Amino acid sequence: MWYETFFDDLYIKWQDNFDENYQYECEKDANDIYEYLGIKNTDKILDLCCGCGYHSIEFGKKGNNVVGMDLSKKMLEYAKYNAHNFKNIQYIEQDIRSPINDKFDFVFCFNTSLGYFDNDYELENIFGKMYRAINLNGKFLIDVFNPFKFINNFKENLIFDIEGLSIYQKSKINLVNQEVQNSWTARKAEGSQIIDERTMKIRFYTAKELIKFGNNAGFKFDRLIGDYKGKEYKVDSDRLILVLKK
Ligand SMILES: C[S@@+](CC[C@H](N)C(=O)[O-])C[C@H]1O[C@@H](n2cnc3c(N)ncnc32)[C@H](O)[C@@H]1O
Repeated sequence: MWYETFFDDLYIKWQDNFDENYQYECEKDANDIYEYLGIKNTDKILDLCCGCGYHSIEFGKKGNNVVGMDLSKKMLEYAKYNAHNFKNIQYIEQDIRSPINDKFDFVFCFNTSLGYFDNDYELENIFGKMYRAINLNGKFLIDVFNPFKFINNFKENLIFDIEGLSIYQKSKINLVNQEVQNSWTARKAEGSQIIDERTMKIRFYTAKELIKFGNNAGFKFDRLIGDYKGKEYKVDSDRLILVLKK
């Protein structure tokens, strides 16, 4: 599966190049949502698909017990390095589809880390798993890109220059299956030999679809927002942030 190998050094460079303030923005988002949802430092937090750990470290700084879970060795390497002073943050290399035995008060899934599976059934199972892993009155937050804004601003061809590499991104949208496919071709210089080629495919969801998965798992709708300060979700919001409650 593409997501087992995609999140490596090249991806991390792309992430920081695509948005040079990425780490800072993740940290800010974590602090904003902490305040907005009224999280207490005794709440136990799971950062699902934690990547480099930018959010989980902010929660750890507040004294919370935090578990970051991710499939990518490389992303976890960064997370563990950055959090090496925090005994209350634990990182585990685990597919989010495998069993979770612990219980949490908040589960977060930041920055479009769901939607990678080949069928909706697998995602529905994740919602069921999170329901069982969350304490009563606990919350599950899902943050994905806003499909309406994404489609309105869709660009078929993009070129990124990253530390001496030129990455050409060709994108296709399938509006029937609600999927976007991005293919990358990386070269040292334009026209030179290809040194990396890879493709990713993400299924995008409407709020209604995600709420239905949540309700089927037993969650109640809590709120739908367009940013981490709680701004109303609109057609032109950058993000679709859904909060479900057990
Ligand atoms: C777009 S990145 C987001 C990372 C992080 N949440 C952030 O906000 O920066 C997606 C992350 O999901 C992880 N991931 C993808 N599929 C996964 C799976 N099935 N189980 C665990 N982690 C997964 C990837 O390794 C990657 O670190």
